[in-house]
Amino acid sequence: MQKVILDVDTGTDDAIAMMTALLSPELEVLGVCSVNGNRGIDFTTENTLRVVEYLGLQDRVPVYRGCSLPMVSTLAPGRRPNVPYKGPENPEDNVHGDYIELPAATIRPQPEHAVFWLIDTLMKSDGDIILIPVGPLTNIAMALRIEPRIAQKIQRIVLMGGGYREVNITPSAEFNFWIDPEAAKIVFDSGCDITVVPLDATHAAAVSVEDAEKLRAKGTKAGRLTADIVAQRHRAYKHWQPMADVNTVPVHDALAVCTVLDERVLRDVRETWADVDISGGAADGMSIFDLDRRDKSKKPNVKVALGADKALFTEMLLKIL
Ligand code: BDR
Ligand code: CA
Repeated sequence: MQKVILDVDTGTDDAIAMMTALLSPELEVLGVCSVNGNRGIDFTTENTLRVVEYLGLQDRVPVYRGCSLPMVSTLAPGRRPNVPYKGPENPEDNVHGDYIELPAATIRPQPEHAVFWLIDTLMKSDGDIILIPVGPLTNIAMALRIEPRIAQKIQRIVLMGGGYREVNITPSAEFNFWIDPEAAKIVFDSGCDITVVPLDATHAAAVSVEDAEKLRAKGTKAGRLTADIVAQRHRAYKHWQPMADVNTVPVHDALAVCTVLDERVLRDVRETWADVDISGGAADGMSIFDLDRRDKSKKPNVKVALGADKALFTEMLLKIL
């Protein structure tokens, strides 16, 4: 079994990613860390606990509460006015809502902070743990700053974030990188084996409402919740950011989990030098992928996927959930 740690800002698509990982027989989820992102840390932690409890996995899967603010991006006046994020101004654009629509959690997070648990777990490991961060990279970057030796202990990082041709929060940036650009830059510069699953891939794998209804028909708990979430996301996306096929909606974070399970779910994977803009200007949080090797002095530091196998992704969700 492959050992993994999830780092989530739950988050509707995070909930689907969690269920995919937690229900995959090939994965051993050592723990789930929450982070500030789609909403403030109280919401993302509560939502993470709700999903674990909904699946009845509270005795097996510990949840660790992580960082409540980005590393530095809220310090400059006016740079991050909407963090902790409260959602879009127009309620019709609301992809997440404050809470995942599940009963309130009766379980609590572990007493240890996510960052210290991550460091401890990685340092004691045999270098056989894959990190799957699908929110802002604050926890991972903080851990790397506190204990840089974890970089040699991480087997691999498969993260959801950034975009080559696609953006979704400012005219230049994807949400996870935009919330904490410095954290994304620290992770890119860490020397770890990194696979980036950006918006270009997740949009290519957008799921149809019809396929999600097949999950409901399976009658499983995960299938029902996924169908509800896809329907909710689809209502918001149709209004806020319609996909080329308007009957589909991306469930970004689940694609990162499926990548760990089967690499073939990604298409057009390029090895390249990647960076994140931290200027505080119009490109703040923008991801840069030097696919044409304009800067010959830079060595590749990531693999990035520009596409995805939509059919395989949908098939995997239908099988696992
Ligand atoms: C990412 O931002 C969040 O809203 C989603 O959960 C996903 O991780 C997509 O840009
Ligand atoms: Ca997320």
